[in-house]
Amino acid sequence: MNNLMNIAIDGPAGAGKSTVAKLVAERLSYLYIDTGAMYRALTYAALEKNVNLEDEDALDQLLEGIDIDLKHTKNGVLVYVNKADVTELIRTDDVNKHVSLVASHPSVRIEMVERQRTLAKGTDAVLDGRDIGTYVLPDAELKVFLTASVEERARRRHEEQVKKGLPSNFEELKKDIARRDELDSTREFAPLKKANDAVEIDSTSMSIEEVAASIINLAKERAS
Ligand code: CDP
Ligand code: CDP
Repeated sequence: MNNLMNIAIDGPAGAGKSTVAKLVAERLSYLYIDTGAMYRALTYAALEKNVNLEDEDALDQLLEGIDIDLKHTKNGVLVYVNKADVTELIRTDDVNKHVSLVASHPSVRIEMVERQRTLAKGTDAVLDGRDIGTYVLPDAELKVFLTASVEERARRRHEEQVKKGLPSNFEELKKDIARRDELDSTREFAPLKKANDAVEIDSTSMSIEEVAASIINLAKERAS
């Protein structure tokens, strides 16, 4: 595949976007850009500094003052805020609960989108998020809308927690996922939505390998 290609993978929480996006990027030697990690990094920084998460201007100011770096290492993508490694810290319940509110502010999104476009420019890249195909990269060569039932998505998250030896409550996870889906799909500015030209893949009964293989096949088709 010689021409530059951007692959956009959007969908709700727990659909498998980041796992599959990482795998596809690895197999095709593309850059992987986890846009959710960027919103999580800002949310973490705001919680640390006790910034009022309803205050759009304060969040905007905070964002202007921070560098968010996604560093690709042999052990995966590490997330840095002003040179401090926050990879684990952005995955806490506290960040999970507040990130969609932070991400709902238009000026925060405008700045994030600019950073994401700069990262993806002039390179083969796989981006995963909520608004990649509809807003960040409307001309992406391949757009995938990845879904799965709420039950299955909560089951996956539950399994993840259990594997890490962390406490987990399936019903709570399901509620959190449903609440975040609702906030992400109903916000006014660049909501979670399938782009008209996106290919929808329901991963409810598909393995990670099967989803990755179907996206790679689609990418090869588009490139030829
Ligand atoms: O991995 P998970 O699906 O739980 O979430 P994520 O992809 O890390 O994204 C966390 C949150 O950031 C989402 O629930 C959205 O509120 C927000 N987000 C967004 O608004 N736009 C994106 N392009 C990516 C994430
Ligand atoms: O990024 P997103 O929130 O869409 O989902 P993820 O974090 O990539 O995936 C959530 C969990 O589901 C991970 O533990 C994956 O290993 C698992 N998964 C799965 O079991 N089967 C799939 N087809 C996709 C993901």
